[in-house]
Amino acid sequence: MTHPWTSPELTGVGRLAMHAIRHDHGRSLDGPWRFQLLPRPTDAPDAGAWRDIDVPGCWTRQDTWDLPHYTNVQMPFPGLPPDIPDINPTGLYERTFDVPAEWAGRRVVLHVGAAESVLLVTLNGHEIGVSKDSHLAAEFDITGFVRAGANDLRLTVVKWSDATFVEDQDQWWHGGITRSVYLYATGPVYLADVGAIAGLDDDLHTGTLAVTVDVGFAGLAPEPGWTVEATIAGVQAPVRSEIAPIPGRAAWPFPPIVRRHIVGGPAAVADEPETWDEEFARQAPPLAGRVSWDLRLPDVARWTGETPALHDLAVTLRAPDGTVTETATVRVGFRRVEIRGPDLLINGQRVFIRGVNRHDFDQHTGRVISAESMRADLVAMKRFGFNAVRTSHYPNDPVFLDLTDELGFYVIDEADIESHAFQSTLSDDPRYLTQWVSRVSRMAQRDRNHASIIAWSLGNESGYGANHEAAAAWLRRFDPSRPLHYEGAIRWDWTSDQGASDLTCPMYPDIAAIVEHARSGLQRHPLIMCEYSHAMGNSNGTLAEYWDAIESTPGLQGGFMWEWWDHGLVQALPNGTTRWAYGGDFGDEPNDGNFCTDGLVWPDRTPKPALWEHRALAAPVEIAFEPRDGRLTITNKQHFIDLSWLRASWEATVEGDVVASGDLTIPAIGPGERAAVTIEGTPDNLHGSGDAWLTTRWVTVRESPWAPEGFEVCALQVPVGAAPILDGGSAVEGTTDGIVDDGGRIVHPMLASSPTLSLWRAPTDNDRIGGMAAAWAASGLDRLERRLVSLERADGEASIVDEVTTGAGIRIRHERRIRAMPDDGIGVTETVSIPAEIADLPRVGIVLETMPGLEHLEWFGTGPHETYPDRKRGGLIGRHRSTVTEQYVPYIRPQENGGHADVRWLTLTDDRGRGFRVTLGKPAQVSATHHRAADLAAATHDVELTPRAEAIVHLDATHRGLGTASCGPDTLPPYLVGPGTYRWSWALTPVEPA
Ligand code: GAL
Ligand code: MG
Repeated sequence: MTHPWTSPELTGVGRLAMHAIRHDHGRSLDGPWRFQLLPRPTDAPDAGAWRDIDVPGCWTRQDTWDLPHYTNVQMPFPGLPPDIPDINPTGLYERTFDVPAEWAGRRVVLHVGAAESVLLVTLNGHEIGVSKDSHLAAEFDITGFVRAGANDLRLTVVKWSDATFVEDQDQWWHGGITRSVYLYATGPVYLADVGAIAGLDDDLHTGTLAVTVDVGFAGLAPEPGWTVEATIAGVQAPVRSEIAPIPGRAAWPFPPIVRRHIVGGPAAVADEPETWDEEFARQAPPLAGRVSWDLRLPDVARWTGETPALHDLAVTLRAPDGTVTETATVRVGFRRVEIRGPDLLINGQRVFIRGVNRHDFDQHTGRVISAESMRADLVAMKRFGFNAVRTSHYPNDPVFLDLTDELGFYVIDEADIESHAFQSTLSDDPRYLTQWVSRVSRMAQRDRNHASIIAWSLGNESGYGANHEAAAAWLRRFDPSRPLHYEGAIRWDWTSDQGASDLTCPMYPDIAAIVEHARSGLQRHPLIMCEYSHAMGNSNGTLAEYWDAIESTPGLQGGFMWEWWDHGLVQALPNGTTRWAYGGDFGDEPNDGNFCTDGLVWPDRTPKPALWEHRALAAPVEIAFEPRDGRLTITNKQHFIDLSWLRASWEATVEGDVVASGDLTIPAIGPGERAAVTIEGTPDNLHGSGDAWLTTRWVTVRESPWAPEGFEVCALQVPVGAAPILDGGSAVEGTTDGIVDDGGRIVHPMLASSPTLSLWRAPTDNDRIGGMAAAWAASGLDRLERRLVSLERADGEASIVDEVTTGAGIRIRHERRIRAMPDDGIGVTETVSIPAEIADLPRVGIVLETMPGLEHLEWFGTGPHETYPDRKRGGLIGRHRSTVTEQYVPYIRPQENGGHADVRWLTLTDDRGRGFRVTLGKPAQVSATHHRAADLAAATHDVELTPRAEAIVHLDATHRGLGTASCGPDTLPPYLVGPGTYRWSWALTPVEPA
C-alpha cells in the first residue's frame, strides 16, 4: 500500500498555491496542543497517551522518546529512497478551535508555518490535505469543513518520508511543527497573491515596478466591476484596474485579458487597455482574475545593502460598489541585479559579497526561532561587517526576509533540497522531479517581492541532474530579474556553460584556485564562493588572504563563510549541569560528532574570536599613513554611500603608551574614493622611535537599526615606527648557580617547574580532521623526554645542551644559554634543531608553569581577542589586560586556544601586584591559560576539563597557522612550521607592586 510519506511523486494534496502576501494571524493556533507520538504513522492513537506539547515546537526538544539526531552526509538510517525505517516517529497534534462569529460567510484558511517532514491535516473528521517541505508553509482552504462552535483539528506530522532524502542537510534531525499555525479569513472574492518585482531602469534612477495581483473568486463567477488599486504613498499615485477574469477551465489557449484604467494617477501604465471577450467568459466561468501594471517611477529612493530604502505598496480590493473588502501591503525596494561579464552588479556596482551561511537554529528549541532571535542574528552580522546571507539550506521564515530587506543584506534564498547521501542519483530520478520543481517554485512564489534577495539557489549538495534543469527553467520564466545559484552545477567545471547556475559558486576552494581561474581568461560567470572559511573550533586561518585575493582580483567577488551558528543543543545532564550537545550526545547513531559545531558564534550567540578578524577585513574604511608628514589617507571601501555616518578618533602609541591623540576631521569621501587628511599633533619623533602605532577608531554618528550612536564599527591600525627589536636585558656579572641546577633545569621562585621544550598543541578541529594531528602523534610530538647532554658554566652564563626524544624516538637537539640578570632575573637564548623527519609541527617554543596565584595578565602584542599567525588582522597591537582564567576560549570540543600573536612582553602578577615579566627577543606567539595542552586534548564530553592553579605559559618562536582544514584548505605555506633551526630568546624579570 502506498502512503503519502513514501510517494516521492506526491508533494501536496489540497494545498493552496503559495503566495507572497502575508495575512494577519486572524486566529492564532499557537500554544499547547494535545499530543502523542506514535511509533508509526499507521499506528492507532493510544487513548491514554495524550499530553500537551507546544506549537510551534520540536517534539525532539519536548520530552518525548524521539531525541535529536545529528548526521552530516550520511542518512540517519540505512536503505534506499524512498524506503524509510519501520519505526517512524509520528506526532499527532490535536486541538479544538472556534471560528469568530464574524467569519460567517467568509473563506477560512488554515496556515501551518512549517512541519517536518510530512504534514497531514484532518478537520472534523474530514481529510483536508497533505504537504511536504519542512521549511515552507502549507495553507488549506477549510471553508467547507469548518462549523459553528468547536472544530476538531488534527495535524499529523510524520518524521521520516521520501522527502527526508531531499532534506539531508548537515544539521540536527528533529520532528515537529517549527513555525506558527493560524487561521485567517477572507471574503469569497479575495487577494490570492500580489507579485511586485521592483527594479531600476537602465538609467539606474527610474524605478520599475511590475505588479501582478491575482484575485480569487472562491469558485464563483464574479460579478463585473471588482477593482484593484495599488499605491505607494508619496511615490506612486493610486493606479486602479478592473479585474479581468483568467479563463477558468478553458479548453483552448486563451491569454488572460486585462482591462486597465487609471484613477487619478500619472500616466504610468505601460500597455493600452484591452477588452475581454464576454462570450468566452460565459462559456468558461473564471475562477480567478488578474490585474497587472508595469509602472515607472522617476527618481525613486534606491535599495542597496548600504541604503535599504523600502516602500510600502498598498493594494486594495474593492467590490463593485466601491467598498474595500481586502487590503495587502507589500514592501518593495528598487534595485537592479544583473550580471555583466564576470561581475554581479547591484545598481551597477560590483559589490563585494561579505556573506555568511545561516541555519535556523536555537540552542533550546532546536529549530523554532522568534523574530527577535532572527533580528539579533542580523544585527550581530552587521556589527561584524557582513552584508550578505545565504539561507543555507532552505527558505527561512518570511520574517527573516523582512529583516534582511530592512537592515540591508544581500540574500541568496535557497530551496529546501539536499540529497547529499544520494547526490549522484536523486536529481535525475523522475520520481523526485516534482519535489525539485515544487520546492523551488514555492519558495520563489513566496519570496519574489523581497528586495534583499539577489539570487535564487536551487538547493545544496544534490548532484546535478535533469530535475535541477526543470526547476531552473521554471525560475527563469517566473522571475527573469534574478540570477540562479547552484553549486552542484559548477562543481566539476568552473568554465562550463553551467545552465542551472549563473554564478560560479564553489565551496571551500583554495585561494590559488580562484585567483588562477579569474586570471585564466576562461571565467564566464561571477565567482562568489557559496561556502568558505569553515569556522569549526579554533579556525578561519587565512581569511585575510582570501580577502586580499578577492579585493585585488577582478572576477572574484566574495563569498559566504561557513557558518553562523555552532549547533550545540543545551542538554541537561543527570548531575544537574548542562552542556552543549553534539552528535552522539543523545545516543544518536550513526552520527557525525561535533561537525555541527562549526559556527562563528557559540550556541548562545556569543561571538567567537574569528568574528573580529572578519570585522577588520570588512571595515568600510581603509587607512594608510605617512609618518614623515602626518598624512593619513582614508579610503571609503563602501559601494554606495559616503563616510558621513562615521566619526573617528586617533591615538599614537609608543611601546604601548599613548603619546598623542585627537579626533579626525573627515572630508566627504564618496564610495570608492580616497582623501588625505593631516593628523595635527603627531609628534614628529614618532617615526623611528621604536614600536610606534597609529590607531584610528570609527564609530557611528547616530543610532541605526543595528547599532546605537557611538558604536565602534572598526578600529584600524598602522605601524608608525620601526619594528620592535627587543632585547632580553643585559646580563650581570655573577653566577648561574642559583638559577640553573645541576640537571640543567631552570629554578626560579615564580616557576613551579623548569620551562621545557614544547612542539605540540592540543589539536584544533582543523588539525584533527585535516590529518595533521595524527602525523604529529605519529612523530611523538606530544611526548617529549629530555636528557641532559652537557652543562657548562662560564662568565655568568650556563650553556646547556639537551637531547629531547619524541615519543616516536626522534631526537632533537636543544641548546640553551642562560644568564643571570639583576634582581633574580634570567635571560635565556634557545636553539632548537628540528630534524627533517618531522615534516610538519604545530609549534616550536617553550612552556613554563608558574606558581599558583599569578592570575593577572598583561601583554603587549595583538589583542584583545585571540589571534594566531594566520588570523591576526583583527588584533590591535597594544597593551592588553586580562586574567589567566579569562584567556580560555571555550570551543565546544576543547582544543588549542587563547593565543596572541606578535607579543613583545607579558606580565603575570598576583592580587598584590607581585609576579614576573617575560620579555621576548622578538615578537612571539604567546598564551597564558590554566590548561596544559595534554589536558585540553584529553578533554571530551565525558572527561571534564579542570583548570589548573598554575598559569601555563607558552612562548613560541613559531606557531603553525590555523587554516580551515576541517573542511577546506589548510593554512598557507608561510604559516607552516617545518624542520630547521630555530633560535629565540626571552628574559624573565621580577615585577614588584607599584
Ligand atoms: C558543506 C555543506 C554544508 C556543511 C559544510 C561543512 O559541504 O554544504 O552544509 O556540511 O560543508 O560544515
Ligand atoms: Mg551536506
